[in-house]
Amino acid sequence: MSISFPTANQESATYPERLQIKHLSDPNVTASTNDGSDVIAGLTQEQKTIPCHYLYDDRGSEIFEQICELPEYYPTRTEAKILRENGSAIAQTTGNCELIELGSGSSAKTRLLFDAYQSLGYPLHYIPIDVSAGMLEASAKELLREYPTLQIRGLVGTYEQALQHLPSSPLPKRMVFFLGSSLGNFAPKQCQEIFQEVTNALNLEDYFLLGLDLQKSKDILEPAYNDSQGVTAEFNYNLLDHLNRRFDGNFNRQNFQHWTFYNSELGQIETYLRSTQPQTVQLKALDLTVEFGEGETIRTEISRKFNLQQMEQELAQEGLKILNTWTDPEDWFALLLCQVKQNIGSSRPSRAIHNFYR
Ligand code: TRP
Repeated sequence: MSISFPTANQESATYPERLQIKHLSDPNVTASTNDGSDVIAGLTQEQKTIPCHYLYDDRGSEIFEQICELPEYYPTRTEAKILRENGSAIAQTTGNCELIELGSGSSAKTRLLFDAYQSLGYPLHYIPIDVSAGMLEASAKELLREYPTLQIRGLVGTYEQALQHLPSSPLPKRMVFFLGSSLGNFAPKQCQEIFQEVTNALNLEDYFLLGLDLQKSKDILEPAYNDSQGVTAEFNYNLLDHLNRRFDGNFNRQNFQHWTFYNSELGQIETYLRSTQPQTVQLKALDLTVEFGEGETIRTEISRKFNLQQMEQELAQEGLKILNTWTDPEDWFALLLCQVKQNIGSSRPSRAIHNFYR
């Protein structure tokens, strides 16, 4: 699907009474969250890395939509099929609830959930969370056109920021959903933190719907991250353009190569940008100079592939009980509906922001 960003004119033809968007990176809302300290930390490590949310500026989010339609990229359509076939079972299990999406992007798969809740006669209350403001706004406006009673309160920011700043719910129950196996883009310890942030943001008996890409042959996995049209490579290079724009940098994308492979020992796709020559790069706004040797890499993404038994234990440790697991016939992808049974992390300071959009 292609998304066009709204122009000033289209803006006025929207539904202000049903749409609120809060920008969490606004220093008036949260303490300086966008200062790039995570970029400095990543680029000064032995193995250089960049946090994965920097892939998703407005341009990156557009390219990612193209990835989702590639013949090699099976996760999106496999997950969509599972959702289409089981959406009504999900809605029946949870009943009426507010829907909160981590990394909403174009909200393409969200529509399958909306259809399921709507056909049971439930009102649609939706909180999309995304780091791309352009993508979030454009998708929200499109959704409002398609669903006449939908209410949207979007949050522009990282998952962590957003989960700590959820507004209070108009409905008794909520469901956080995290699709596309984006959980796999985080290291095990970070996944644990995400689960804790989710359970902290929810009440007992609320729901968590999780989409996971499962372990499989590298002959299927590797092409999904190295497509023949070069869209994934472009997605990777855009990260450098984004850092240049955001932090006044001089990365030259011509001096880097897209490189990706399946690390079967760790069960993860690893994606890198490899320096083709010795070079020095500056990010002026961060007062940062980075040296690269020839062949030196920046790891730009990991995409872990999951084992369901192991995941069940990890969720249980965080007080999340799996109510149902759906997979496709080939067991490539799984959708897990979980319920919060214990709030393990509740000793930490939690949410509770009221009148947040006012
Ligand atoms: N969540 C997606 C995944 O892990 C993100 C993704 C798809 C991605 N293709 C990519 C990230 C290529 C970096 C590079 O499948």
